[in-house]
Amino acid sequence: MEQIQTKRLILRSWTESDAEDLYRYASSDKVGPMAGWKPHGNIEESRDIIRMFIRDGNVWALQEKESGRVIGSIGLHDSSPKGDIVYDRELGYVLAEEKWGQGLMPEAVRAVIGYAFETMRINSLAVSHFPFNRQSQKVIEKSGFRYQKRIEKSWKRFDGETLDEEVYLMTADDYAEQKKKGFFCR
Ligand SMILES: CC(C)(COP(=O)(O)OP(=O)(O)OC[C@H]1O[C@@H](n2cnc3c(N)ncnc32)[C@H](O)[C@@H]1OP(=O)(O)O)[C@@H](O)C(=O)NCCC(=O)NCCS
Repeated sequence: MEQIQTKRLILRSWTESDAEDLYRYASSDKVGPMAGWKPHGNIEESRDIIRMFIRDGNVWALQEKESGRVIGSIGLHDSSPKGDIVYDRELGYVLAEEKWGQGLMPEAVRAVIGYAFETMRINSLAVSHFPFNRQSQKVIEKSGFRYQKRIEKSWKRFDGETLDEEVYLMTADDYAEQKKKGFFCR
């Protein structure tokens, strides 16, 4: 994957040697379940997920410049049905709990939005969060997405809970408009 740099982060491809860093944050019960997935039970599970990231080629590792450690991930996933909302790619992200609240994910999200519209030339980018996930809602609002709707009972989570999804969209026109206003200048 193309490497992207922001002020504090390097967005780069995953390698199997990142398994320890991934396991460190993905084993927390505060991280995965907020994004819909089960906390990793052991490092082998983390290694399997990294192999999937490498195979699919659509998820970056977020390497913190200061520590050199991988502290999260951000991806541009293929579209899957979301009611009548049509879009090209879906943004997804997670960050290690000890790094929350420093604006790191909004920094990564802006860079990936720029990449999606300028380099990949997609027409629309979706993002969604569970209704209780205010942290993700904040990131989405700060990043300039437009709210579309709540899709009820659209997620059957690993723990058997059926959850609603709040869906947002950014079109290429929205992106161009916000860029004109200087929102995406880096
Ligand atoms: C969502 C997430 C990526 C946000 O990343 P981040 O870099 O912390 O984003 P921000 O610094 O902008 O903080 C976002 C909001 O989180 C909340 N927050 C900050 N620190 C927090 C903490 N320690 N505990 C709980 N919430 C916190 C604040 O409301 C903040 O908004 P504000 O800055 O407007 O007050 C991160 O919380 C995370 O990884 N959560 C678990 C996985 C997840 O939810 N992924 C998204 C699935 S849709």
